Amino acid sequence: MQKNIAVIGAGYVGLVSGACFTKLGNNVICVDVDEKKVESINKGKAPIFELDLDEILSSFKDRIQATTDYGRAIEISDITFVCVGTPSSSDGGIDLTYVKQVIKEIGKILKDFNKWHNVVIKSTVLPGTSQNILLPILEKYSEKKAGKDFGLSMNPEFLREGTAVYDFLNPDRIVIGSFDNKSKENLRELYSSFDCPIIETSLSAAEMIKYASNCFLGTKISFINEIGNFCKGIGVDAYEVADGVGLDKRIGRAFLDSGIGWGGSCFPKDINALISWAKQNGYLSNILDDVVKVNDIQPLKLVELLKKHIPNLKGKTIGILGLAFKPNTDDIRESRVIPIILKLVEEDAQIKVYDPKAMDNFKQQFPKIKIHYCSSAEEVLNSEAVLITTIWDEFIDLDYSGKIVIDGRRLENAKSAKIYEGVCW
Ligand SMILES: NC(=O)c1ccc[n+]([C@@H]2O[C@H](COP(=O)([O-])OP(=O)(O)OC[C@H]3O[C@@H](n4cnc5c(N)ncnc54)[C@H](O)[C@@H]3O)[C@@H](O)[C@H]2O)c1
Repeated sequence: MQKNIAVIGAGYVGLVSGACFTKLGNNVICVDVDEKKVESINKGKAPIFELDLDEILSSFKDRIQATTDYGRAIEISDITFVCVGTPSSSDGGIDLTYVKQVIKEIGKILKDFNKWHNVVIKSTVLPGTSQNILLPILEKYSEKKAGKDFGLSMNPEFLREGTAVYDFLNPDRIVIGSFDNKSKENLRELYSSFDCPIIETSLSAAEMIKYASNCFLGTKISFINEIGNFCKGIGVDAYEVADGVGLDKRIGRAFLDSGIGWGGSCFPKDINALISWAKQNGYLSNILDDVVKVNDIQPLKLVELLKKHIPNLKGKTIGILGLAFKPNTDDIRESRVIPIILKLVEEDAQIKVYDPKAMDNFKQQFPKIKIHYCSSAEEVLNSEAVLITTIWDEFIDLDYSGKIVIDGRRLENAKSAKIYEGVCW
């Protein structure tokens, strides 16, 4: 059954979810405080880069719109998805400012409502947040009762940037954490066309499923990076090891590609937030503390390897291929290239970079770092050494012969370089 959906926060998760809900036959209205994003969505153009997103926005233009007006959006909808950011706070915990702001606004709007409405938290929030923090705010400002006058659910999102549209439409599972039966039924109906397991849980279990998933994936990567560091030391190829290990069905091959570590908008902030939550609640987080430690040292290994070949980097031109935290996204949040570039700056190297999508974001975030932004990947190759930090398709077939290449991501063709070093192989 077609639903009218409001999505608050039109970023990677909100806009992709909204666009996919329209593709599935629903009407969607996105709300964002960023007027430029609103304008762009209303023109049928995605304000972020994600495969297939523009196509959906322009094909279903008549069913998706955007506004800055919460009231208008929520009034014409049956369900509101909260998809605003939950960044790290200064102590590594979670900053709930945006979510709380939005929940307060929803509460105020529900006050004058005379129909039932489902409030769904899709932002990643720590266990206990929906039940103990957001529900009381909603009840206070709406002067209504959760479970009676409105529904409350927690529906974590597992999409990956770069393949977000595909992931949203083809999930491994859908998790519906709910406070009340009516909101659970409502979401079950919304997701009825999906051919995957639907797990129904409490609000807090849904929140913990999201954190446990991200923490496990980060752990798997840090684990294989540690093994990779051992392998490098004894001249063993960590990818051969990963292939052998990954065939064990209990382990699996995914997320066993060693390299310079995990970055992005989710793993770093979510792992740190769970560590901080554990400490606040009196639990030990031994494993997760070390997962972060391994990840912090891993990118700098690339510079160590570089210095094996060029011991003094002062004045040397070092080319970097890739700024995005992974291919097919323009997102540079917590990209592993950031500590690498900062280290090269400290060593007084001249830095040249190229990334097909993420250069504008990098310039904006680091305006003071002196970097030469190249207009092509080939231009980067004209350096004293090249570091591979993200594998975009257009880097695969470059001519690396005659170059010094230090590879953080395993680009097979780069092995034809004059000097080639892989970070864990
Ligand atoms: N990016 C991912 O891959 C991913 C995957 C799964 C879950 N998540 C989680 O989803 C949430 C959103 O992440 P994201 O990457 O989409 O963030 P994002 O920064 O790309 O988007 C957030 C959007 O919310 C808007 N916003 C902020 N305050 C607002 C307000 N008061 N009212 C309306 N809009 C407001 C911002 O302008 C921005 O467009 C986070 O909790 C994140 O952890 C992200």
